[in-house]
Amino acid sequence: MIVIRKLKQIYSSCQKYKNAGKRIGFVATMGTLHPGHLSLIKKARKENDIVIVSIFVNPSQFAPSEDFKKYPRNLKKDIVLCKKEGADIIFAPEAKEMYPAGYRTFVDVSELSQCLCGKSRPMHFRGVATVVLKLFNLVQPDTAYFGQKDAQQAVIIKKMVADLNVPVLIKVMPIVREGDGLAMSSRNRYLSPEERDEAVVLSRALKEAKMMIKQGERNTDIIIQRMRGIIMRKKIAKIDYISIVYLDGLNMVSAISDKCLIALAVHIGKTRLIDNAIIDLKKNG
Ligand code: PAJ
Repeated sequence: MIVIRKLKQIYSSCQKYKNAGKRIGFVATMGTLHPGHLSLIKKARKENDIVIVSIFVNPSQFAPSEDFKKYPRNLKKDIVLCKKEGADIIFAPEAKEMYPAGYRTFVDVSELSQCLCGKSRPMHFRGVATVVLKLFNLVQPDTAYFGQKDAQQAVIIKKMVADLNVPVLIKVMPIVREGDGLAMSSRNRYLSPEERDEAVVLSRALKEAKMMIKQGERNTDIIIQRMRGIIMRKKIAKIDYISIVYLDGLNMVSAISDKCLIALAVHIGKTRLIDNAIIDLKKNG
């Protein structure tokens, strides 16, 4: 496994593989890898000849008030983990080469980027879509793997790829959770032991919602109220949003039908956590 830092070098390496007829699988990350990330790398390893993992804490997706500076970084450990999973290349570019002085171009997947997390993070998905398209152009993967953990991100990237005719297949993999249900996230390490215990409330609220739906509840207001009640019992938790939306267009659902997404963001102390569940009445209703 090699670590590449230069844009020219990753592009020429990937071109070589493509010209040799190799299938390239790609996993984009911001590093500090945990089993959620590793599940994507494992899947890519199974399905491709060459596996490329990018590690880049992308400044354009953080607002000035957010945690860009203190976002955890641990390239040394990430290299060990990627090697263990059988990745071929880590691409870890420098911000000054990804966004040189005078950089001007951004990708805006409109509407999908303004709802849910976009309400409190208005520029976030513009930064995500931009960096992911840049990475796709450099790596030119056949398949790119994303996590359902960031459900809105996955919807936006799929839409961007469709709208801009990017020749890559997007695969979305299930959420990897801790034993008690907490969705794995690099930001979980910000939590104090007490906050860590309370953070399980997100997945608990989703579990309750799924149970209500299983028992026949279809009114989304009633479901959301119950979820709010569960979360608000925790003093340390502050709800950003709880929404039930259609999976493709992310429009609000008033009565549960077919396929929808229950998504929520909650501040546990100073840490903002997200989680979600897909409801598919045909499968698990
Ligand atoms: P990051 O948060 O590092 O996540 C990288 C990938 O891992 C994303 O596709 C994310 O959905 C997936 N992932 C994270 N936690 C997961 C979990 N518990 N289970 C399954 N998959 C999980 O998402 C980003 O980075 C960035 O926005 C990025 C796409 C790299 C653009 O900068």
